[in-house]
Amino acid sequence: MALIITELLLYGGGPAFDMMLASDNYMRDFDENNITAAVIDRYQNTPDPRLKQIMTSLVRHLHDFVRDVELTEAEWVYAIDYLTRTGQLCTDKRQEFILLSDTLGVSMLVDAINHRFAKGTTETTVRGPFYVENPPEAAFGADISGEAKGDPLYIDGTILSEDGKPVANAIVDVWHSDAEGFYDVQLPELEEPTLRARFHSDAQGRFRFWTIMPRYYPIPYDGTVGDMLKATARHPYRPAHVHFMIIADGHETLVTHLFVDSDQYLDSDAVFAVKNSLIRDFTREAPGIAPDGKKIDTPWRKLHNDFVLSKAVAKKSAPAA
Ligand code: BEZ
Ligand code: FE
Repeated sequence: MALIITELLLYGGGPAFDMMLASDNYMRDFDENNITAAVIDRYQNTPDPRLKQIMTSLVRHLHDFVRDVELTEAEWVYAIDYLTRTGQLCTDKRQEFILLSDTLGVSMLVDAINHRFAKGTTETTVRGPFYVENPPEAAFGADISGEAKGDPLYIDGTILSEDGKPVANAIVDVWHSDAEGFYDVQLPELEEPTLRARFHSDAQGRFRFWTIMPRYYPIPYDGTVGDMLKATARHPYRPAHVHFMIIADGHETLVTHLFVDSDQYLDSDAVFAVKNSLIRDFTREAPGIAPDGKKIDTPWRKLHNDFVLSKAVAKKSAPAA
């Protein structure tokens, strides 16, 4: 819709608009079979070839869908109301449309199409709604658990380029849920960002930090997406994971998670984001000395993971907004 409005604002009333009228076919009496071709024809003069491709395909698939299910008028009204309510839920803190895209598998489809990187590079997944821009900087080896209670978890690894060379000074953003499945942004009583931080890889590409074990959790379930999940007997849970976003010069930004291998929701993730290559054994360790030399007198968990970044690839030009 934004595309159409922008085009009208750009072209409305000007010479390009006259050209569009001149080329229109003044057809009438459209029926359920010929209306699709007539609407597609109305886009023939779209100057941007990518926008023309998108509008043509959108109209074709949308009309096919309506014909396929023989949409009733009551369902059409419901759909308009549903989308209106979805938009009304969106604020600078909540994006119900992205959640809808996530739960329909569209986000992961877009992710897959746009990250066909070389074999051996770390696979991507959705970013999700709980990332906070410019997270607090943390020192190499810091503990980011703050006031959160749970099983201590030590994570370390190296950021590598696809040629196997370590990547120094990469930005390593990390965020995850607490032991009860909540992100800090869902807990207003917390005074400081918790279980999230920005690290930088050292000269050898290494990073390390302490945190606590995350837990599985439901995606936000009290809005229109929750209504859809309930009406279709789908559960809202995501398997336990730690999010990473890794940004390094000359490389594609990597947005991914590492999943806990014992989780009960690995095969039914509400947003279809689990990949086998991202499932890890967060090993159980006895009290003793951790790899960073810290003495720990309770049982703890350990995760070692190297991330392999794809070299930067040339981007397709974006469609006119
Ligand atoms: C998350 O992992 O934080 C997430 C991803 C997609 C939808 C909801 C949550
Ligand atoms: Fe998450």
